[in-house]
Amino acid sequence: MLKKIILGIETSCDETACALYDAEKGLLAHMLYSQIERHRAFGGVVPELASRDHVKKMLPLFLEVCEKASVQPAEIGAIAYTRGPGLVGALMVGASFAKALSYALKVPAIGVNHLEAHILVAEYVAPALRYPYLTLLVSGGHSMLLAVEGLGQYQLLGETRDDAAGEAFDKCAKLLGLPYPGGVQISKLASTVSSTSFHLPRPMQHDVSLDFSFSGLKTATRLAWEQSAQTSELKAELAFAVQQAIVDSLVAKVRRALEVTGYQRLVVAGGVAANSYLRECLSKFDMAEIYFPPIEYCTDNALMVAYTGFRYWQQGKFDADYSLTLLPRWPLSSLQAV
Ligand code: KG4
Ligand code: ZN
Repeated sequence: MLKKIILGIETSCDETACALYDAEKGLLAHMLYSQIERHRAFGGVVPELASRDHVKKMLPLFLEVCEKASVQPAEIGAIAYTRGPGLVGALMVGASFAKALSYALKVPAIGVNHLEAHILVAEYVAPALRYPYLTLLVSGGHSMLLAVEGLGQYQLLGETRDDAAGEAFDKCAKLLGLPYPGGVQISKLASTVSSTSFHLPRPMQHDVSLDFSFSGLKTATRLAWEQSAQTSELKAELAFAVQQAIVDSLVAKVRRALEVTGYQRLVVAGGVAANSYLRECLSKFDMAEIYFPPIEYCTDNALMVAYTGFRYWQQGKFDADYSLTLLPRWPLSSLQAV
């Protein structure tokens, strides 16, 4: 490997992000442009607006990250980009940019799975982390429990049957009139009270499977709010109850998954891993060593893409040609087949 710097590009949803990772020195720089303000008025991500914004930001952000890291584009030896899962129009922007740059610089491009990137950032942060380990991957679009047996080796143990945990946070926040994205808003509001008079359901908690379900929580939250006096104190209590219900459901299944697998290491990944109450509850576990990436690496970022690309690059694995093969749905369990 002559050149040892890899560029990471993330455009799967509403964040345009670039990172430069050096095989020897580690992370050189990472930058992120969030479109949240643009989507807030709509209460969620509008795919067409997301793509248009990525188009505007992609090249300027790439130049900025090169400047920040004092790296010339010609020093880049490989380019990792998010191939999926994600919004197809948004993915297309990052992938097209990556492929064009790979052609111009005559370096390989590496299509990365966004979910795998969320997991592997834990290995970047904790190089001593050994396989196998359990991962709770909880983001805006996914909630799953995975057995991680090696690079690219993921066995799905359980997943949500309806809404993802982040989606449940976002939808309940919307019902309470809180701005998008709701997870962090619920968490902030919940931290202003220390108990709640509401009790919300925890579906499937006693079910033997390792699956989750959050759709009933939305309806229960809506009814509880409609039937309450709707004061700001009650809003905070309901936010507390929502957070408690989501976290309890996750924690119960993590406990069961650790029992079933006998694994002694747990990684918590994805945007919802930023939730401090979830961190607090899981930290009390004495059955496993727990790895939480720092919050800025839990939510979408390009370091995770650069690092994942680097791991495959090390193994001599990269895209075979310049065609765009996006995978807007790309299950982790099928990774080795790609
Ligand atoms: O991984 P991510 O940044 O994007 C996806 O790939 O989906 O996750 C975003 C999700 C959103 O649903 C957001 O509300 C949630 O993560 N989230 C949180 C917190 N920070 C972000 N949920 C609960 N508590 C938080 N502190
Ligand atoms: Zn994500």
